[in-house]
Amino acid sequence: MTLQISQSVSDFVNEHADLKYVFFGGKGGVGKTVLAGAAAVGFAQRGRRTLLASTNPVHSLSGLLDQNVFGHEVPVTGIDNLWAYEIDTKETIEKSKKEIQEKIDWFLRYAEIRTKSDEFVESATMNPAFEESAMFENMIDIMFADKYDVYVFDTAPTANARRLLGMSSIYSLWVNKMIHSREEAQTMRFRLSYSKKKEEKDPLMDYLINFQARMAHAKQLLTDDTKTAFFFVTLPEALPIAVIRRFIDWFTEFGIPIGGVVVNMKIDETSASEQSPEFVRNRVAIQGNYMNEIVDTFGGLVRAVIPLYGTDVRGVTMLTNVANTLFSPPQITA
Ligand SMILES: Nc1ncnc2c1ncn2[C@@H]1O[C@H](COP(=O)(O)OP(=O)(O)O)[C@@H](O)[C@H]1O
Ligand SMILES: [Mg+2]
Repeated sequence: MTLQISQSVSDFVNEHADLKYVFFGGKGGVGKTVLAGAAAVGFAQRGRRTLLASTNPVHSLSGLLDQNVFGHEVPVTGIDNLWAYEIDTKETIEKSKKEIQEKIDWFLRYAEIRTKSDEFVESATMNPAFEESAMFENMIDIMFADKYDVYVFDTAPTANARRLLGMSSIYSLWVNKMIHSREEAQTMRFRLSYSKKKEEKDPLMDYLINFQARMAHAKQLLTDDTKTAFFFVTLPEALPIAVIRRFIDWFTEFGIPIGGVVVNMKIDETSASEQSPEFVRNRVAIQGNYMNEIVDTFGGLVRAVIPLYGTDVRGVTMLTNVANTLFSPPQITA
């Protein structure tokens, strides 16, 4: 079977002139960081001020770029228009914890409950979903700051984006309900209070209203197919294909725009001949079968096929080569 790429990455980018938020998802180790880096280089080369950001607790941008980009936005040496930023996960989580602590402290004071907040804070923050949410909020803060033309995020917040959008109507329901009961509680308290002093500021309610607005804004940006695209990376192998097939189904269901599929680490079959070791010939044949499966499954969504290089992808020179391949014109691959 022949893979005919009907729309390449360049075609897609040209047809989406307002593309601004680009994400890469897929199984661990398939090359998300490398391809996010390559895409960011491609946008920067097209004159767009681009931020390559990682919300991944296991960082690899500094390694990829051979330059320390941890903790703040750093211009990438050797490439104009490109900045990179590895978010400090620990700091983000600590900051979120402190905010929650403040809200709980305030509420306990407000409700005149004499209990230490520590236990509540602990139970509210001791789970992976909390960390994921903190990272997600950090990511949308970067998006909302609106300092760049294009944002490329290494590692799609897959579960979160899905949860957020799938639950957004439920979110609105309960946030509205909570706002309503907060209002009732405030009125009640006002009536009951002897001092009759003016209603005090309610940080919890401010937070809920603000949270709802932020999530609505995030949803609006993340479902706008002129601005947002999620790309999925696979290898010509069974598991990575299964993983992105599931992602694509979810994302389609929730109306999150899919940019397409990038196949990575394809062994160039012309480099394998009858004289090649059996091992190499076998790998090439197996990859060929999975390429057929990829064509059957994703068809017109495949935007690029990236070869398996002899070394890891490291440093801006090699990354620029990958960028050129990623953005190269349509090619026919057997
Ligand atoms: N096409 C390729 N050829 C050779 N090595 C690659 C290729 N793509 C990625 N790599 C290497 O594979 C490893 C995993 O890639 P990475 O981008 O970190 O994956 P992920 O972010 O999906 O976990 C890295 O060492 C990277 O340099
Ligand atoms: Mg990675």
